[in-house]
Amino acid sequence: MKILIVNGPNLNLLGVREPSIYGDSSFETYLEKSLRPHFDGKCTLDYYQSNVEGEIINALHGAIDAYDGVVINAGAYTHTSVAIADAIKAIALPVVEVHISNVCKREPFRHTSFLTPVCVGAIMGFGMDSYRLGVESLLAGK
Ligand code: DQA
Repeated sequence: MKILIVNGPNLNLLGVREPSIYGDSSFETYLEKSLRPHFDGKCTLDYYQSNVEGEIINALHGAIDAYDGVVINAGAYTHTSVAIADAIKAIALPVVEVHISNVCKREPFRHTSFLTPVCVGAIMGFGMDSYRLGVESLLAGK
């Protein structure tokens, strides 16, 4: 199984950005030291990050015929982007929404997700482990 992990805006700064909320590891370190070894032999994990909404949409379009599923943390676009929601609907692949923090425990503007209704499910609040749980859920549903 081939899975694409997509991170949205400001997630390139994981490890530096608000560590009390997002932890002190970069995503690249977590991917290499934890996520890929954990799923070794079970699936292929590719990674894409962009701060640009249209590039995230292009990455989702590019997943058609190339991947079996997508794990996406769209960052703040989660709460604003009809266009990313439309792209998820358009690609007809299982997409799992993940968040490092529990967005429902935070500011009210983070309680709305345009993506949850078009994803197979959402995982939030487990720190970086949210990504592992997202991949597990795609593997379980295959
Ligand atoms: C986030 C939560 C979003 O509200 C925020 O804008 C992010 C990160 C998370 O992983 O907890 O950038 O998606």
